Formats: sequence, C-alpha cells, structure tokens
Amino acid sequence: MSHNIPFFNYPALFTNEEEELVRIFRDVGRRGAFILQQDLADFESELARYVGCRFAVGVNNATDGLHFALVAGGIKPGDEVIVCSHTMQATAAAVHAAGGIPVPVEVGPDRCIDPAAIEPAITPRTRAVMPTDLNGRTCDMDAIRDICQRRGLLLFEDAAQALGAKYEGKSAGTFGIAAAISFYPAKTLGCLGDGGAVITDDPEVHRVLLQLRSFGMDDSGECQRWALNSRLDNLQAAFLRHRLRAYDGVVARRRVIAARYHARLVTLPRVGLPPAPDADARWFDIYQNYEIEADLRDGLQAHLKAAGIGTLIQWRGRSIHGQLKLGFTQDLPRTDRFFARCLMLPLNMTITDADIDIVCDEIEAFYRGR
Ligand SMILES: Cc1ncc(COP(=O)(O)O)c(C=O)c1O
Repeated sequence: MSHNIPFFNYPALFTNEEEELVRIFRDVGRRGAFILQQDLADFESELARYVGCRFAVGVNNATDGLHFALVAGGIKPGDEVIVCSHTMQATAAAVHAAGGIPVPVEVGPDRCIDPAAIEPAITPRTRAVMPTDLNGRTCDMDAIRDICQRRGLLLFEDAAQALGAKYEGKSAGTFGIAAAISFYPAKTLGCLGDGGAVITDDPEVHRVLLQLRSFGMDDSGECQRWALNSRLDNLQAAFLRHRLRAYDGVVARRRVIAARYHARLVTLPRVGLPPAPDADARWFDIYQNYEIEADLRDGLQAHLKAAGIGTLIQWRGRSIHGQLKLGFTQDLPRTDRFFARCLMLPLNMTITDADIDIVCDEIEAFYRGR
C-alpha cells in the first residue's frame, strides 16, 4: 500500500499559517522596513534572551555566521580547527573561509563529535575546536570544554541545527566564544528563505560581527576591515519573531515524535536509534532530525520509498573527510561505517502520530524474514 508521508512538507511552512505570514509581509512592506530595521533588532534581542546569551546578530545564513564567528573570535590563516566529520560542508567551509584548516575527526554514537577523537588530532597548529550540535543535540560539552581548557584551545559551536537544545540546562551555542544558528526553511525555527544568526556573550566579538555582516563598517560608516554584505532581511526577522513565540510548542511536539519513534523501534535489533528524549537528564534534545543507523540501509530506504515514505541520507551520504577533492586525507573508519548505515526518518510539524506508526510498521515489515 502506498502512503503519502513526505520527508518534509515545504509548502506547509507557508500554507499552515498563510494569513498571518501575509499580514506580517503587508505590515513590513507598508513600513518600507526592509534592511536593518526594528524587526531585526527586536528579533536579535528576543533570540539572545531565548538562548540566554548577551548578543545575537542576524546574518544571511549560518554558513556566513560560522565564518564571522571564527574571524571575530580570532582564527588566523593557517590555524587548524577540529570539526566532526559528520557535519554539513558549511562547518568546514567556514573554517576555510576564515583562512583556517578544517581537521575532521570521528563521530560518536550520539551522532555528535566523539570527544575522545579530539586530543589525538591536536597538532602545534591547532587553535580551536568547532563541534556541531547535530540533529538538535548539544555535544558532550563537559568533555569538550575540559579538553579546550587543558590544551589551550578556543571553542566555537556550529549550533545551526540546535536552537533551544540544552546540556545541563545551558543552551547549545553558548558554550564557546560564539556560535551560529540556521533559519533555513527546514530548520526547527525556519524562515521563508535563507537566514542565520551568530550568538555570543563577548562585547568585542559582537562589535566585530556587526562589522563583518555589513561591509566592515562601524556606526559612523568608517570601514574598520574588509567585509562583504550578509544581513538577515528585516522581513525574515519579522517572520522569525512571530515563529519564535510558538517555538517551545514546536520543540515539545518534536520530542513527542522522537519518543514515539523510540518506543516503536527500540525493539528492532537491526536498527540503531539516537538517544531518547528521556535517556539522560543532562541532555534536552530538540530533534532537528531523527537519524537512525540501519542494517541494509539502502534496501530499507527503497522499501520506504515504495511505500510512499520519504527519508533522507544526511549530506547525501558524504562525510567531510570523504570530500577528497578538497584535500582531506584523514582515515576515519567509524565515520565511514556510520555513513553506510545512516538514514533520517520524517520528523516535522506536519507528520501525525498515525503517520509515525505507519513508518514504524513499514520498517518492521522490511526486516521481517530478513
Ligand atoms: C550542521 C549545519 N551547519 C551549517 C549549516 C549551514 O546553515 P545555512 O544553510 O543557514 O548556511 C547547516 C544547514 O543548513 C547545518 O545543518
């Protein structure tokens, strides 16, 4: 039987609250408030308050945001920055754009960087670690901060997927010098186009971030450095302000979906699951994605597709160290094994509990008799 359970329903991002979004568009348009206006300033303060940090700076996308965070935080040409090999290309590209050298290391069982893989990758040129809070889960920050403190390394965070995730009550993105969050439409807090923000507690980093996103200029218009243009549109900020108000409800629903997947799939020996919402009280995960590890992964994906269920292999199945044309030479067998088995199940705000049960039924059906 064929179902209709897409991996992600993009039109619903608009149609689910079309009237309200059109009202916001009309309001912003009639005010002619397009670039660096009050909606952006308000969103920045509200976002900073939401994550519990001093400053947020809206930028055009999180990739630029990571680049700016690294530059403002002091990364210099030739500095090595350790990243997880299971992350978006953007993490490594931001290091490269800042003049640094991204050094990918192994992923751990929770899909985030394996803290034990960090120290062996440190060289005299290592300046920083930039772990990715992947799939809406904060990395093991006690272990990572301990390494950074002992080895004199800077800490940045790629929190593109982790708005509202917490570790020991502290928000993802607030553990290091600065972090970037993405508002790409499919993100937990998505806008209607590209969008991102950098968060930091450091007033000097904040000052430089404001320059980096807008031609290197200070308030007087004098250029303090070379920079291009990467601002968060005021219209997108207005949409995001509206959505941030309802965000706790979004996170709660995502955690319910993850718990339902967990309860149904935990008995399947051939499927590895991400940590459940209540697995460890130190972590509060927001489930940007529900990424399983599956035996016979390609067969399972084909079976689900034939049943009308959309799934996705993150980064199209490519690790950072697997991007050989970019010069990576690392040998990371655990990450390679992960990439042969990983698959993301649909987890979004339109999926129903009945849909989740159908996805689980089909996964069970696939493994039955195999
Ligand atoms: C882990 C991670 N880092 C960085 C990015 C880049 O974000 P953006 O698309 O806003 O540049 C993304 C997603 O898009 C991501 O998932």
